[in-house]
Amino acid sequence: MTTFSIPEKVANKELKRWAQEIFELCAPDDVYWCDGSEEEYDRLCAEMVESGTFIKLNSELRPNSFLARSHPSDVARVEDRTYICSRTKSDAGPTNNWMDPREMKGILKPRFEGSMKGRTMYVIPFCMGPIGSPISQYGVQITDSPYVVVNMRLMTRMGDTALAAMADKEFVHCLHSVGMPLSEGQEDVKWPCSPDPKDKYIVHFPEETLIWSYGSGYGGNALLGKKCLALRIASNLGREQGWLAEHMLIVGVKSPDGRKDYVCAAFPSACGKTNFAMLIPPKPFQAEGWEVTTVGDDIAWIKPDAHGKLHAINPEAGFFGVAPGTNYETNPNAMESIKENAIFTNVALTDEGDVWWEGMSDAPDHLIDWHGNDWTPSSETPASHPNARFTAPITQCPAVDEDFENPKGVPISAFVFGGRRNSVVPLIQQSFNWAFGVYMAATMGSEMTAAAFGNIGEVRRDPFAMLPFAGYHMGEYFGHWLDIGRNIPEPPRIFSVNWFRKGEEGEFLWPGFGENMRILQWIVERARGRSKGFETPLGWMPRYEDMDWRGLEDFSREDYEKVMSIDRDMWIKEIALHDDLFFKLYDRLPKEMTFIRELLLSNLWRSPEMGLAAPRPDASEDLPRIKATAE
Ligand code: GTP
Ligand code: SPV
Ligand code: MN
Repeated sequence: MTTFSIPEKVANKELKRWAQEIFELCAPDDVYWCDGSEEEYDRLCAEMVESGTFIKLNSELRPNSFLARSHPSDVARVEDRTYICSRTKSDAGPTNNWMDPREMKGILKPRFEGSMKGRTMYVIPFCMGPIGSPISQYGVQITDSPYVVVNMRLMTRMGDTALAAMADKEFVHCLHSVGMPLSEGQEDVKWPCSPDPKDKYIVHFPEETLIWSYGSGYGGNALLGKKCLALRIASNLGREQGWLAEHMLIVGVKSPDGRKDYVCAAFPSACGKTNFAMLIPPKPFQAEGWEVTTVGDDIAWIKPDAHGKLHAINPEAGFFGVAPGTNYETNPNAMESIKENAIFTNVALTDEGDVWWEGMSDAPDHLIDWHGNDWTPSSETPASHPNARFTAPITQCPAVDEDFENPKGVPISAFVFGGRRNSVVPLIQQSFNWAFGVYMAATMGSEMTAAAFGNIGEVRRDPFAMLPFAGYHMGEYFGHWLDIGRNIPEPPRIFSVNWFRKGEEGEFLWPGFGENMRILQWIVERARGRSKGFETPLGWMPRYEDMDWRGLEDFSREDYEKVMSIDRDMWIKEIALHDDLFFKLYDRLPKEMTFIRELLLSNLWRSPEMGLAAPRPDASEDLPRIKATAE
């Protein structure tokens, strides 16, 4: 039997105790303390090539990069197997799975017992956020997956520096096992995970800042710094300590006059955060001096500074982005970020030893698909899984923001919320004030995507894009947002966007991607008090002439009116759906939600002859016509 020993460099007493406890529980064959070095990364990757978990890609086409294929049952986060085990059920709220912490430990302890037999137990010290930042948090993940170790090295500040910095600090305890112990002589598989898809548990104990994840090796289920720590545990810390942990990208916008603002935007999984975070402005904007820079593409931690100005950091150090649909037109910066030193999971392999996915380019004549089978363009299934992902360091992004590592974070001027809605929600609007903005974010809906198990295309409420990630009662979470706005002198402006409005033929009505710059421009200028808008029942909207259309001349005023239209009947139905959510959250729902619902309804009931947006006497005739079908 292996004996347990702790390297001298480990100073944190609690870490020593806990690592020993887990060693005794999980009974690995070996223990390895990760130092975070390049040598270690290279060695683990080479070992995985040896074991078949990794395929080394062609070093000329994709230097220092690897492909992994997961088990077909282990391809995305498993929301129905994700639990918030707070002390009481009502603390977790009705939108989370809950179980009594003791009962859950009773189920999981026997599973973890001996779960690492035949494997190495890796101890991964890491920091979410720049080391030393007052907004950052330390964590230690213990795992039996080398795939997790190398991904954690790209996604977090991992290794000896974090270990030294946390010597006398608290850290979030993150325990992970793929749930496939090996008996004496048993041969390993390429992607070990719990053989029974129902036997996966992604479990959070918020009062103990403890995470136990069992049975899955994929993404947010297994890279515990990401959704588990940085959203579910951190949202609990933020509620106690007066800050926000959000499913948001962070982007910097510099206008030609040199002024720079930062915007945080929340979109549900696979709804365009990575694209928006790396937006490339259209040519005329570039020529004039508009610049967009990337701070983060998935998670933001946001804290008021001493003056009450909100500052955000990206707690992550890498991208774990959706591969399908990414190409040099939709997202050139993402393509540049993954040119080398990247890990690809569940994409297709080309005959030249490079990667390919749907939407990258015309399909090659022959590929090996994500299952490892031959594939040709006439095959009936996609070559890559719709939730196939790339992992790469943020520093490889050509547009990485100069303040990405700034321990103070970046000052936030605006929040943007957007779901995937083929109708109802207009392209862009600004809420009247903070409380209206919180209402708008709280009632966001979105169509389901492949990033989570569920019925793809079906609209579900996804408040703040946090439905799967808020680690406590969602009603209380709305209250926390209201509180934050009450306690700062100048809260950022709040906007709602929808890139996904569709026309009668099912075509997208808005070109999106780089063209979203036009919306971003209106947003930052609006936050600066400079751009114009007009009042509608839902909030403020830009008129056609309030937007900069240079370089998009074929997008007509009529096209604009279509993506901006507000249909009263549809909105009344939509608001009825808000009530479904509110009734569900009733025991902790802030009263503001109910009152704002009433205000919105009465706004929608403006005289139809005036149009739903009553023009002010000084307004031009060019107001977007807003349709009222209930004449
Ligand atoms: P997670 O990493 O899962 O949290 O998601 P994400 O929000 O970062 O997702 P990502 O940016 O990878 O979203 C990818 C999907 O959004 C693809 O289907 C893109 O085609 C689509 N998308 C992104 N921006 C736009 C846009 O402006 N218009 C349209 N129509 N689709 C877009
Ligand atoms: C998401 O699903 O929102 C992701 C991917 O960002 S994962 O890390 O797998 O959760
Ligand atoms: Mn995400």
